[in-house]
Amino acid sequence: MFESLKPVVADPILGLMAAFREDPRETKIDLGVGVYMNDRGQTPVMDSVKRAEAKLAELEKTKSYQGIAGDAEYNSRMLQLMFGQDHAVLASGRAKSLQAPGGSGALRVGAEVIRRARPEAKLWVGTPTWPNHIPLLGSAGFEIAEYPYYDTATREVNIDLMLETLRRVPAGDVVLLHGCCHNPTGADLSNEQWDQITEIALERGFVPFIDTAYQGLGDGLDEDAYGMRLMAEKLPELVVASSCSKNFGLYRERTGSITFITQTPEQAAIVGGQAMAVARQMYSMPPAHGALLVSLILGDEALCKDWKAELEEVRLRIKAMRTLLADSIQDNAAGLDFSHIKRQNGMFSFLGIAPEHLTRLREEFGIYIVSSTRINLAGINSSNIAYLAESIRTVLK
Ligand code: LMR
Repeated sequence: MFESLKPVVADPILGLMAAFREDPRETKIDLGVGVYMNDRGQTPVMDSVKRAEAKLAELEKTKSYQGIAGDAEYNSRMLQLMFGQDHAVLASGRAKSLQAPGGSGALRVGAEVIRRARPEAKLWVGTPTWPNHIPLLGSAGFEIAEYPYYDTATREVNIDLMLETLRRVPAGDVVLLHGCCHNPTGADLSNEQWDQITEIALERGFVPFIDTAYQGLGDGLDEDAYGMRLMAEKLPELVVASSCSKNFGLYRERTGSITFITQTPEQAAIVGGQAMAVARQMYSMPPAHGALLVSLILGDEALCKDWKAELEEVRLRIKAMRTLLADSIQDNAAGLDFSHIKRQNGMFSFLGIAPEHLTRLREEFGIYIVSSTRINLAGINSSNIAYLAESIRTVLK
C-alpha cells in the first residue's frame, strides 16, 4: 500500500527548525519558527504558568475525560480575554466558544463547521499569509481565493487594493484576517482600517474568520483585540480562532479555542453542537493540561496580574529588538531601508533581502530565516546582535 507514497517536502517553518537543531555551530542563530526567546536565547516556562502548574498538581483529582468542548471555565475566561469582560456579545448568548488543540486545531474546527453550514463558501486569504493557512484550511475542502495584503515596495498593508478586493467578495463567503501581529509580515491593520473592513463586511455580507494567535504581543492585550471586538459588536456573524501558544508560552500543550458568534443564542447552541460533532470525528477531545493552567491564571487575581506583567516584558523585549536590529543594519552597502521593522508589530517582519543573501546567511553564518525572509525578532538578543548585524551587512556588500 505505502509504496505509492512520495516523500513530502518539509514544512517551510518546521523543516527549518529541524535543520537549525542539527547545525553544530555555536554561533548559529534561529530567526525561524515563531517561538519567543528571552535575552539568553531560551524559551522559559512563564513563572505564572509554573505557579499554576503547582496549584493544578494539588487541585487536580482526576485525569478522566473532560468532554468535547473542554473546560467550561476556560471557555468563559477566554471569551472575556478576547472580547473584554463587558462586551455586549458575551451577555447576548450569541458567542459560543470551545477549547481546541492549539490555534491550528481551532482553525480546523472552525473551517469544518463553516463547510457544514455553507459548503459553497469560498475562503479569502490575504497574500501573504501564514504558510500553513492554505494547507490547513484548504484541506478542509475550501476553495481558496486571495486578496492582496502586503505591499513589498512600501512595506505596509496594501490597504487600497485589499479594500477594493473585499468590496467584490460575494455575500456568504469567508474572509480570513489576522487579529494582530500579522504572520508573516508584521504589518497590522490600523483601527481605522478595521473600521473600514467591518463596514465592507456589513455591506457585502461576508463572514470574517479571525485568526488571533498573538494577543498581547503587539500593542497590548486590549489594543490587540480592537478588530475582533469591533467585529463582534457590529457584525451578525464572526468566527475567531485563538491560541495560547505565544501569550502563555504553552506551545507544546496545544491550547487554543474556537469561537462562533451567530445571529441568535439558539443558533449559537446549534453551532456549538456541530463543532462538538466535528471535534469528536477528528480528535474526540482537546488536551486538558494547558487549558486548565490558563483557566487557573485568568481566574486568580494575583496570578493574572503576574502573567500580564510577564507578557508585557515579552512584548517590550520584542519591540526593543525591532529597534536594535533596524538601527544596526540601516547602514548597509546595498542601501536597503529597514525602518519598517520598527513600525511593525509582533514577532515577525520581512527582511526583504534576496534569496541568495538568505542562503549565504544560513550556509556561511548559521543564521536561519524562513525563505519568505520572515524573521522572528525574538531570536535576537544582546549576545548575538553584533554577529547578526555584521553577517547581514556582509552578505549585502
Ligand atoms: C510560526 O509561524 O512560526 C508558528 O506559528 C509555528 C508554526 O506552527 O508554524
